Amino acid sequence: MAKKLYIKTYGCQMNVYDSARMADVLAPLGYGAAESPADADMVILNTCHIRERASEKVFSELGRLRQARAERRDETGADMIIAVAGCVAQAEGAEILRRAPEVDIVLGPQTYHRLPEMVARATRARSLKDGRKRRGAGVLDTDFPPESKFDHLPAPAPGQAVSAFLAVQEGCDKFCTFCVVPYTRGAEFSRPVAQIVQEARALVAAGGREITLLGQNVNAYHGEAPNGSEWGLGRLVRHLAEAVDGLLRIRYMTSHPRDMDDDLIAAHAAVPQLMPFLHLPVQSGSDRVLEAMNRQHKARLFYQIVERLRAARPDLALSSDFIVGFPGETEADFEATLKLVEEVGFAQAFSFKYSIRPGTPGAAMDNQVAEAVKDERLQRLQAVLNAQQVAFNRATVGRVLPVLLEKPGRRAGQLVGRSPHLQAVHAPADQSEIGTVVDLRIEDIGHFSLSGSRVPSEQRASRSTFDTLQEAVA
Ligand code: SAH
Ligand code: SF4
Ligand code: F3S
Repeated sequence: MAKKLYIKTYGCQMNVYDSARMADVLAPLGYGAAESPADADMVILNTCHIRERASEKVFSELGRLRQARAERRDETGADMIIAVAGCVAQAEGAEILRRAPEVDIVLGPQTYHRLPEMVARATRARSLKDGRKRRGAGVLDTDFPPESKFDHLPAPAPGQAVSAFLAVQEGCDKFCTFCVVPYTRGAEFSRPVAQIVQEARALVAAGGREITLLGQNVNAYHGEAPNGSEWGLGRLVRHLAEAVDGLLRIRYMTSHPRDMDDDLIAAHAAVPQLMPFLHLPVQSGSDRVLEAMNRQHKARLFYQIVERLRAARPDLALSSDFIVGFPGETEADFEATLKLVEEVGFAQAFSFKYSIRPGTPGAAMDNQVAEAVKDERLQRLQAVLNAQQVAFNRATVGRVLPVLLEKPGRRAGQLVGRSPHLQAVHAPADQSEIGTVVDLRIEDIGHFSLSGSRVPSEQRASRSTFDTLQEAVA
């Protein structure tokens, strides 16, 4: 009998990927997608622990689910399995089961290949009389297992998104002093090349045209190659571009500046499928703060990498992550960040106020920055970043960009896709064109997307006509 599964995903791309894979793991048990939690036989909250208030969010969502489950039971007699997955589950699993008895299953980011077993155990834990879970009978599986989940996952199901994610690397050994990821995702490891190629081919066979290679430190990738040697990310990108027919575009994220090696930078010049857009978090422009954050590089390294990347690929656009108000950050430190932003120029960026994470070294630092100061710095930083983003988008007006059409747009007769620089672009197009790259002349910029008109392909600009970001934001 068909059962329905609803997965609510928080956090980063790794979680988005994991949610898709959890659906793949549960498909053989008869689970298909539900429209809403209310009509689901199983609900999974795939949680994120990166900043404060993550767990409160989970508990309030669980309160709503408890209600939805009770209503469903009253109306239809059907039950609902509630699972909490992801990084909050990894960090606070036992606490979740204690505080929220309605939760049947708690699982971590490295154990979801065992979901069928967990579902069987959770089902057995229900009393036969009234379907209620026996107290204390919740299933907890937040190990870091010796086996790799990737060796036990089914092939991606048909009907994949045009732009698909593929995790090539997991975990993190960097231990930035603000960050929970090394604790919630575990130690760094890389998948073998052959397994990645197989999954990439399956994604393309299932409708994928663009693949974003994922990892918390994706450019620290060092996987086993078919000939037994070890390949870095640059070599992997070149290999995928050659070995996977029908793969039109490749991206990767998230990278660490320290791991941008020569080969990867060279791949930006050599591989046309590798899109000229890079998310490269720097966090701060101050050496003092970078040191306190344990980023293990100086601001100078970031400037140098950007220069080399732009030499390799002049139309490369950059994105980054910034944290303001890290313990000990002075006004001068913050100004160094502003200076970096002004000198480098970003097409887009994410910026956050430092958030204390229990258990990380930053939480124990005694020079915490006042909330009001963090607020003020964040506003100043975002004003500059937003202005750069608008300028970057505005510079595309009148230009022709190749856009990979992904899905229906806001209005009928429209599709939305992505430019090489990851800008969303709306344009008149037919459903049948989903998954193809079309040339669009950018007409206008809106808050969240650009709009374009069709250009016959012979008028198409060559790939190098796009000015460098530096010119665009000047
Ligand atoms: N692995 C990636 C980022 C993972 S988390 C990297 O190394 O860049 C995504 C972003 O969240 C980080 O880049 C950082 O900017 C932000 N972040 C992480 N921990 C944070 C914290 N405690 N407070 C505020 N922002 C944080
Ligand atoms: Fe977190 Fe730093 Fe690892 Fe990124 S590199 S996941 S910020 S510890
Ligand atoms: Fe959040 Fe975990 Fe990703 S903490 S950012 S979901 S790795």
